[in-house]
Parts: sequence; structure tokens; C-alpha cells
Amino acid sequence: MIDPTDLHGALRDPALTSMTFLNEVASHYPDAISLAAGRPYEEFYDVEDLHRYLRRFTRHLSEDLGYDEGAVRRTLFQYGRTKGIIHHLVARNLSVDEGIEIDPEAVVVTVGCQEAMFLVLRALRATADDVLLAVSPAYVGLTGAARLTDLPVRPVATGADGIDLDDLVAQAKAARAEGLRPRALYVMPDFANPSGRSLGLATRERLLEIAAEQDLLLLEDNPYGLFHGDHPRVPTLKALDTRRRVVYLGSFAKTALPGVRVGYVVADQRVRGGGPLADELAKLKSMLTVNTSAIAQAVAGGKLLEHDCSLVGANRREREVYAANLTHLTDGLAKRFGEDSGVTWTVPSGGFFVVVDVPFVVDDALLERSAHDFGVLWTPMGHFYDHDAEVRALRLSCSAVTPARIDQGLDRLAGFVSAQLG
Ligand SMILES: Cc1ncc(COP(=O)(O)O)c(C=O)c1O
Repeated sequence: MIDPTDLHGALRDPALTSMTFLNEVASHYPDAISLAAGRPYEEFYDVEDLHRYLRRFTRHLSEDLGYDEGAVRRTLFQYGRTKGIIHHLVARNLSVDEGIEIDPEAVVVTVGCQEAMFLVLRALRATADDVLLAVSPAYVGLTGAARLTDLPVRPVATGADGIDLDDLVAQAKAARAEGLRPRALYVMPDFANPSGRSLGLATRERLLEIAAEQDLLLLEDNPYGLFHGDHPRVPTLKALDTRRRVVYLGSFAKTALPGVRVGYVVADQRVRGGGPLADELAKLKSMLTVNTSAIAQAVAGGKLLEHDCSLVGANRREREVYAANLTHLTDGLAKRFGEDSGVTWTVPSGGFFVVVDVPFVVDDALLERSAHDFGVLWTPMGHFYDHDAEVRALRLSCSAVTPARIDQGLDRLAGFVSAQLG
């Protein structure tokens, strides 16, 4: 018999059971309408796409890169380069879509963005004094990765601008006053999960200045930036980064397909006496996943090639559909919850998520009741806070549903809320 206290402390942390709990609730109530899942819309996919992407990438190896038959076979079937085999396509994609110009050698292709987060946090956690700052509420995958790497997370308030920059400075200084070393800030400048908030250009520029003043890296996570509806895009932090303060975390989960489990990290910071930080991350990766599946990279690479490395181009229909869904969701909330209902919500300009504030405490037991009695799923906001305090908010997602299902789901949500207030 193994005593749980003899296992790593992270295993007793609620952050690690969060994703599994939410998936399990969904699987226990298959007929419930899910306004919880932040997945892409499944009907966009066709199995034939996978074959076409693979063929496209294979052609790229022979025709564009000049590989002979043996080299093509080796590339797809064998163990491969630790930093990946689509790094040049990722670099081109970032140039085409984001105006980010980087050396492909600064890219590590990872098993989803999740592995990228783990590698970066593992590398940055040098001593027990190191801490991570994170805009709160934060993506639970980040909190979990921090637990696995024994890196304490200090919250920074969202404030009115998507990040409270005064609080950021205060938190960095407070940590230092305690003898700790804040290494980096985790931030989602575009349509954050879960808050839906985005940073304006002036806030981004000031944030970059503060990062330099406070000697912080910025870990920019950007899975939703392309889903901006009709609103003009604001440059990413990495595109504005003239001082190599930004480590850019990329995911193909929402812009290509989550099943491929391919993400990446751009780490072009120089390491004294060595190459880019990416090379250090690759050392860690070589002992974690050896390399990202060549087949999976070929699928992601084929999708990139099919769209001239533009995921903006590849996601025109998705952008429209998600934007229409988001508007449908917030309009639907307005139709169902009057000004005196005590219910308020965010109206993000893009992304998948809306946060609804309600006049009662929201916890996992309440989600179960909502699923069981009312047939609607959502995510308790408590999952995104790194504390035990009561939270009176829930997150709705609009990505994996149709407008008709959003209507049905909101009708059920309205029934649930009125029963709670009843
Ligand atoms: C903030 C954030 N980062 C990253 C990811 C995606 O990570 P991965 O590429 O590992 O699927 C998600 C997906 O839900 C997310 O919301």
C-alpha cells in the first residue's frame, strides 16, 4: 500500500483533478448541453483531411526540401530531431500571421502547448526561491504545470485593463521583499481563458517596459488570438518584443486540431555561454517526450502548407462562426437576465469564453446539480483561482455548440439560476 503523502505533493492538489473532474461530469451527463467545453467545433473536421495533410507534408519533404525516398521515410518513421521537424513552418506561420520574425532554431515543437508550459517552468525553476506570477484567474493547465515543477504561483489582478500593472509591480516587489525571485509572468493578452479579457496596445507596451524594469520574462499564451471576429487585431507581445523578454507559447489545438497534440514554444533568449533558451528546453524535452510525434507534426505541417502557412487563412470560417456564437451567447444572456436579476457577464471582443457573475456561491456540487436537474454544463470559475475562497461566477464557452444549442443551454441555465435564487 502506498501512502499518498509518499507521492509528489502535486498529486494532492485540486489543480490536478480539475480537468478530469470536468470531463467526468460531462461524461456522466451525456444528454446535458455543454457550455463548458472549450473545444473547437467538431463538425468542421473530416477524416480525409488527415490523409491530405500527411500527403501534403510528405510532398514538402521531397519537393521543397529535396529529401530522397530514404530521407522522407526516415523523417516520418524514425525518432527525430528533438526540437521538431516543422519548426521552419512554425516560424513562417508566425511571420505571415503575426509579424513575428524569429530564427526557426528558437522554436521547440512540443506535445501540445501543455508540454511547452511544463518545459519553460521546469527550466525557470532553478531554486526554491523562484516564483511565477500569473494573471488571475489563470488557465488551470498552467497552474497544474507549475505544481508539477514545484514553482509557486503568485496571482496578479486582472483589473480594468486585463492586467493590473500596478499590482504586477507590487507583486514582483513583494516577492523580492520576501527573499523570493519572481522569474516570469504568465499572461494571455488575447481573449484569455477563462476571463475573455484582452490587453490594449498601450497596456502591452507598458507591460513590456515593466518586464524589463522588473527583470521578468513574459510567458505569452495565445491559443485564441485568431478568433477576433470583426475587431481589429492588436499585435502580440512577441511581435512588440524588441528586448527578448517574451517566451511565446503556441498551440494548434484551436486553430488546427486538438487531436494532433502539437504545440510549440518560441524561446529566443540567449543563454550565457550557449545558444537560445530553446536549446535548454530541448534538453529537458529529450528526457520527457524524446521528440514530438513525427506523424502528428506532419499532419499539423500539412495543414500549414495547405494554407501557405497562414492559420488566419485556414480559420476564416471558424472565426466567423465563433464570433457569431459569442454574440449569440451574450445577446442570449441579455434576453434572459434583466438588469435586476443580479446576474452580470463579460462581453469579450473575441475568443470562446464569457464569465457570468451570479449572486450565489458556485462550486462543483452546484455544477452537478445543474447537470442532473437542469441538463446544462458550465465551468465553476473556482477552477481558475489558486485559492479556496468562495467564487460567485461561472464560465460559459461558445465554441463547441450551435446557436440553437446555445439558446437551449441558456434556457436551462436561466431555469437553474432562478431555482438557485428561488
Ligand atoms: C490558455 C490555454 N493554453 C493552452 C491551451 C491548449 O493547450 P494544448 O495545445 O496543450 O491543447 C488551452 C486549451 O484549452 C488554453 O485554454
